[in-house]
Amino acid sequence: MNSPKKIGLIGVGGRGRHCWKAHDPQNGWEIIAGADINPAAQNYFMEHVPSAKMDFSEDYQDVLNNKDVDVVFISSPDYFHELHGVAALEAGKDVYLEKPMAITIEGCDRLLKTAMNTGKKLFIGHNMRYFPSILKMKEIIDSGMIGEIQSGWCRHFIGYGGDAYFRNWNSEQRYSTGLLLQKGAHDIDVMHWLMGGYTKTVVGMGMLSVYNRCKRRSPDTPGSAVWKNEQWPPLEQEGFSPIIDVEDHNMIMMQLDNGTQACYLQCHYTPDSERNYTFIGTKGRIENIGDSRECEIHVWTQRGPRKTPDAIFKLKETSGSHGGSDPLIIKSFLDFIQYGKKTNVSPVAARNSVATGVMGHQSMRNGCDHRDIPTLPQNVIDYFEGGQIKK
Ligand SMILES: NC(=O)c1ccc[n+]([C@@H]2O[C@H](COP(=O)([O-])OP(=O)(O)OC[C@H]3O[C@@H](n4cnc5c(N)ncnc54)[C@H](O)[C@@H]3O)[C@@H](O)[C@H]2O)c1
Repeated sequence: MNSPKKIGLIGVGGRGRHCWKAHDPQNGWEIIAGADINPAAQNYFMEHVPSAKMDFSEDYQDVLNNKDVDVVFISSPDYFHELHGVAALEAGKDVYLEKPMAITIEGCDRLLKTAMNTGKKLFIGHNMRYFPSILKMKEIIDSGMIGEIQSGWCRHFIGYGGDAYFRNWNSEQRYSTGLLLQKGAHDIDVMHWLMGGYTKTVVGMGMLSVYNRCKRRSPDTPGSAVWKNEQWPPLEQEGFSPIIDVEDHNMIMMQLDNGTQACYLQCHYTPDSERNYTFIGTKGRIENIGDSRECEIHVWTQRGPRKTPDAIFKLKETSGSHGGSDPLIIKSFLDFIQYGKKTNVSPVAARNSVATGVMGHQSMRNGCDHRDIPTLPQNVIDYFEGGQIKK
């Protein structure tokens, strides 16, 4: 076996913990460097990955200046993705970058351009493309069972919205643009993938009507996201961000470039949590009942009541976080870097989901007018769809 490839982490805590799984010296991957503005993240990492010896810094540039580091996982907050991603590619590192790719279309396009210019690999952490429920729906749609797909809807109930997105940086447009990116980028990407096209025009409507009425923390207290089922009902909770200017209810309608149409509805103050997709074709309809763990995919191919689908696919619980997708996406990234293996994710698709979210927010904030998504040059699309091989 060749000597292990060396990994650096930018953002070691929070979602960064998921990247610890990449430390696998037996199979050629070793975490050797990390940066996080919170030094406690290092201690936590060392406790949980005792076989690793990590060179730790509070400055991400130290990871990039480390000549031994081949590959960088970036799990810093959304508003750092463009800065950290571009710097890592320019430093000659292959990059795993968390979704959303960036918080502006320009930021995404700069990342694509830098990856093309440097020839370093760019992989965006859209782990929903590795969810068993999504993969099963894609397999069924691709089999032709529901005919030619025409329309797709997603209702996204986020019971933990008030725990996760209205207590820290996520609540401010200047850091997140809006929750059609942080949360919606996943769903828009899934809809693009399963429907086989990208949004070309979007119309949005949304509002902030619940968390703006809750008690805020003082601006001197740092923000923190803490998930607790007891934090219910929303209007009786406290400790919210001093500034909240993102919507807690988002709705967009999308015209895709292949003639199909989609609709995405996202609410952050529901008691329950689920992404409920349905795709309707010329011969039937498919819907997920539950999106992870034990869940079912229902398919209707004959006229009849909703309660009696014509086929039910039962999915068993798989191990690993986010419905078992997290270990799979790490492996897919490492196989892509090591062997050039094809991935389920695509930087072009990641950019197009951000672009749809950005334009959806622009629409809802400007009288619900329709907004066209700027297209990418064909040579950029070809480069990424061809596996990122620099000629
Ligand atoms: N794919 C998924 O399922 C999934 C799930 C959760 C979060 N995310 C994404 O992961 C990213 C991180 O989310 P999070 O909730 O863990 O955020 P977070 O605010 O908890 O930050 C993550 C880590 O980055 C560190 N950090 C912040 N600024 C930094 C900087 N300038 N340099 C180095 N480290 C820095 C923080 O101290 C923390 O340890 C976000 O982009 C988020 O959208 C993805």
